[in-house]
Amino acid sequence: MGRNLFSFEGGEGSGKSTLILKVAEALRVKGIEVVLTREPGGCPIGQKVREILLDARNSEIVSRAELLLYAAGRAQHVEEVIVPALERGAVVLCDRYCDSTEAYQGYGRGLDLTLIRELNQIATGGIYPQTTFLLDLPPEIGLGRALSRVETASGKEGRFERESLRFHHRVRFGYWQLAAREPRRMFMIDARLSPEGVFEATMKKILGAMKVPRDRAV
Ligand SMILES: Nc1ncnc2c1ncn2[C@@H]1O[C@H](COP(=O)(O)OP(=O)(O)OP(=O)(O)O)[C@@H](O)[C@H]1O
Ligand SMILES: [Mg+2]
Repeated sequence: MGRNLFSFEGGEGSGKSTLILKVAEALRVKGIEVVLTREPGGCPIGQKVREILLDARNSEIVSRAELLLYAAGRAQHVEEVIVPALERGAVVLCDRYCDSTEAYQGYGRGLDLTLIRELNQIATGGIYPQTTFLLDLPPEIGLGRALSRVETASGKEGRFERESLRFHHRVRFGYWQLAAREPRRMFMIDARLSPEGVFEATMKKILGAMKVPRDRAV
């Protein structure tokens, strides 16, 4: 079911949103229907949840509430956007998904990983990506990129950018653990590469992994 669902993961500023836009464009040029979406967000209710979760003023959110908000947003997003898109044969590219919850709320916050996996199972109804692109980058570099972007952006998002460097190192370590656990699904890319280098590595992988009619795959 999730065979044409691809997720993009990695720390703040690792280049997910930059990459996903280019991948979507490249696939659309080939005549493939692409649904580009993100978490938190991806649908109107998910967007409201996103505003709560990423608002830098909401520093009082406790870890378990944060976890449940992510799960609630995901449940809505999967049913409203992801499943219908997959059912009509679209390729779905999702900017962050279940692995973010394991990396941030599990390894970053220290919440129980088994519990998080169960919650992800409830939230997704078992819809998992066939391949996940993990953009790996030292947090010092990623935060530098993200902060320069936050300063120029007008939005209020940025709650995670304010976390300590130690937190971000735990998140990165968490992603490594996830990649080691599921090496066939998780495709790690060195995000220190140029945007073009990251894009090329992704396209090579995704074109081989997608299930689309042959005439549109080349
Ligand atoms: N490979 C790259 N090399 C150098 N800079 C990059 C690269 N990819 C993206 N950037 C720049 O880094 C900044 C952050 O990139 P981007 O917004 O795509 O990251 P992100 O992973 O989506 O971050 P977040 O998790 O905060 O949403 C942007 O200014 C972008 O132009
Ligand atoms: Mg982004």
